[in-house]
Amino acid sequence: SIPLSGKNFLSISSLSPLELRHLLDEAASLKNIYKNEEATDYNPLKGKSMAMIFEKRSTRTRVSTETGFVKLGGHPLFLSSQDIQLNVNESLHDTSKVLTRFNDIILARVNSNDTIETLSKECGEGRVINALCDMYHPLQTLADLLTLEEQWGRGGCSDKTLAWVGDGNNVIHDLMVGFLYLGGNVNVATPSGYECHPKVLSRCDEVTKENGTKLMTTMNAREACTGADVVATDTWVSMGEEDIYDQKIAEFAGYQVNKDLMSVTNPGSKFMHCLPRHQEEVADEVFYDEGVSLVWDEAENRMWTVMAVCMAMQGKTSM
Ligand code: CP
Ligand code: NVA
Repeated sequence: SIPLSGKNFLSISSLSPLELRHLLDEAASLKNIYKNEEATDYNPLKGKSMAMIFEKRSTRTRVSTETGFVKLGGHPLFLSSQDIQLNVNESLHDTSKVLTRFNDIILARVNSNDTIETLSKECGEGRVINALCDMYHPLQTLADLLTLEEQWGRGGCSDKTLAWVGDGNNVIHDLMVGFLYLGGNVNVATPSGYECHPKVLSRCDEVTKENGTKLMTTMNAREACTGADVVATDTWVSMGEEDIYDQKIAEFAGYQVNKDLMSVTNPGSKFMHCLPRHQEEVADEVFYDEGVSLVWDEAENRMWTVMAVCMAMQGKTSM
C-alpha cells in the first residue's frame, strides 16, 4: 500500500524514513507532472474536501495548500479562529466530530502541539495534517528536503552537513530529524536557554545510532557552520512571542547569518530560510545571493510537498 496511507501527518518523527522518502518522491513526481505536462486535467483528489484551521497567521502554508489542493481537484476551506468555533464556545472534541462528517482532511496551524494531538485523536487516523505548532513544522521540512535534493540529487543529503543557527524550536525540530533520516549530519547552534526540546534530541539520538549519522549541538554559531554544506535559520521571534521581541534580539546577538559566518562553510554551500524573514537573523548579502540562497525554491516547494502529503494520506500516488 502507499506509505502514509490512512495515517496522520503530525511531525517528521511520526513518519518512518520510508514514508519520508515516498513523500519526497511523490512531491517531485507531482511537480514534474504539473510543470512539464501541463496536466491541468490531472485531478486525483476530485470530490475531496479539506478543512484548513488557522489559529495563527500564514502566507505560504495557506496559499500553497489552497492552490495545491485545487490543482489536485479538491476543495479547500480556509477557517481562521474568527470564522469557526475553535475551543471557544465549542469544545475541540465537538468541532472535530463535526468536521470529520464533511471533510476528508483536517489541516491545522495551532499554538500548541496538544491541540494537534487532540485533533488527531478526535478526528482519527488518515485525516490530520500539522501545519505548524509550537513543537513541529513537518510540511516545511518536506519542502526544505525537496529543495536540497533538487540541488544535490535524489539521496544527495547523505553525508552532507546541515548547520542550524538560531532558535531551537518548531522548524529545526522537524528539519533535523528529516535530514538525519536522509543520512546527513546536523550541527545545531542555539543561544543558551533556546536549545532544542529534549524529546526531539532523544529521537535524534535514536536515529543517529540506527543509521550512523551525527548530531552536534553547540552555542557557537561559527563552530556549527564550519564544514557545513547548508546553513539554515528562522525568525528569532516566532508568532506569539512579539511581546519578548527586544529580549530575544538581545539574546540572539552574534547569531546573524552573514558572509563572514558563511566563509567557514564548505565551498558551494547553500542557505535556507522558511520565511517570513527579518534582517537580524540573515543579512541581505546572503539572503539575496542567488548562487547561495534557496529561499524562493523552498517557498515554491511548499506547494508540491503538501500536495504529496494529501495524495499519500488518501492512498493515491502519481508515480
Ligand atoms: N514558512 C511558513 O510556514 O510560512 P507561513 O507562516 O507564511 O505559512
Ligand atoms: N518559528 C516560526 C516559524 C514560522 C513559519 C514561528 O513559529 O512563528
